[in-house]
Amino acid sequence: MKKVVLAYSGGLDTACCVKWLSERGFEVVCFMADLGQPHNFSPAKKRAKIAGASRIYIRDLKQEFIRYFILPSLKANAIYEDKYTLATALGRPLIAKYLVDLAHKEKAQYIAHGCTGKGNDQVRIEVSSMILDPKLKIIAPLRIWEFKTREEEIKYLAKHKITIDVTKKKLYSIDENIWGVSIECGVLEDPWIESPDDAYRFTASLVGAKSKPIYLTIGFKAGIPVEINGKAYCAMDLIKKLNVIGGAFGIGRTDLVENRLIGIKSREIYEAPAAHLLIAAHKEIESLVLDRNTAHKKQKAALDYADIVYYGLWYTPQKNKLDNFINATQKKITGIVRLKLFKGGFACVGRKSPYSLYKKELATYGKGDKFDHSKAESFIKNWAKPYLK
Ligand code: ARG
Repeated sequence: MKKVVLAYSGGLDTACCVKWLSERGFEVVCFMADLGQPHNFSPAKKRAKIAGASRIYIRDLKQEFIRYFILPSLKANAIYEDKYTLATALGRPLIAKYLVDLAHKEKAQYIAHGCTGKGNDQVRIEVSSMILDPKLKIIAPLRIWEFKTREEEIKYLAKHKITIDVTKKKLYSIDENIWGVSIECGVLEDPWIESPDDAYRFTASLVGAKSKPIYLTIGFKAGIPVEINGKAYCAMDLIKKLNVIGGAFGIGRTDLVENRLIGIKSREIYEAPAAHLLIAAHKEIESLVLDRNTAHKKQKAALDYADIVYYGLWYTPQKNKLDNFINATQKKITGIVRLKLFKGGFACVGRKSPYSLYKKELATYGKGDKFDHSKAESFIKNWAKPYLK
């Protein structure tokens, strides 16, 4: 019998996928990944069974997601098109890896997913799976099936007595994990319309945000965040805590008209307080520790890294090469950053590191200046030389 491992979320689309695939003679094995999204797995599990799944795997991948995907992206300071800290994009190669692993374990010849034909996620999952095992065949039911609307899908499930709570009108398409939330569709499709409050999942609005500023310190060790206000946290607790604290100030909301990799523009809003706080803080330690040349190279690497993640090229030599460079720059990214959080935003107001290259005796315009001003003139002449006739 043909066997397929399906990336299953439990929502309307993937519930239909289970039934649709089993009607076409497939044994369907479902895979659900816990990447830190709010979830209730048991109704989804039940639904998959009723729809005909032979087996459902649920894997808690939060630790792996943080260690091998989020933290490398943080070290890179990766942000796509200045605004998107890549929560969704980072999760896809990990999901693809588990689809492939489970296909091997289950001796399945196929993997399937519930992505649409014009999004980025289909590319990320399929390219990753092709690289990891080119022999596996891929099915994307949403690209080929007969349903044109959500209503048709709901009818199809009802016909087969598969219950799903779609009473609430679905206003947005939401993808969430511990690194952030991505929200699109509905009124957001008009880039002129301000995103309404009900589009956001957990961050406070500008009006509702805390109004009294607070100070917060974040400590880093070798490029990895390890403490908040002097207290040690594992990366997972630290990210969760910053999402709560930052979210209450309305930090980390962005609104982006982005260039999708298949060539269309789309408008999406994001919530990622921890990601924005951490990337900004991480950059501050780098500003003290990295020499100018490395710092500038690393800024360019951040853009390349974001593109690679966004374009679904995680398992590629170019990504490994960037990781090698980035890791080589992180050994001394140790120190503490002081942030001021205020209504709707934050600022880095202080930073220190035992490896700081900042030398007050060279920078000062006050007493104790050790900079040799007399050397500046010959430096400038040499600097200008290549451009002089
Ligand atoms: N535009 C983002 C990306 O390509 C998020 C895609 C998923 N968004 C969603 N609301 N389902 O990574």
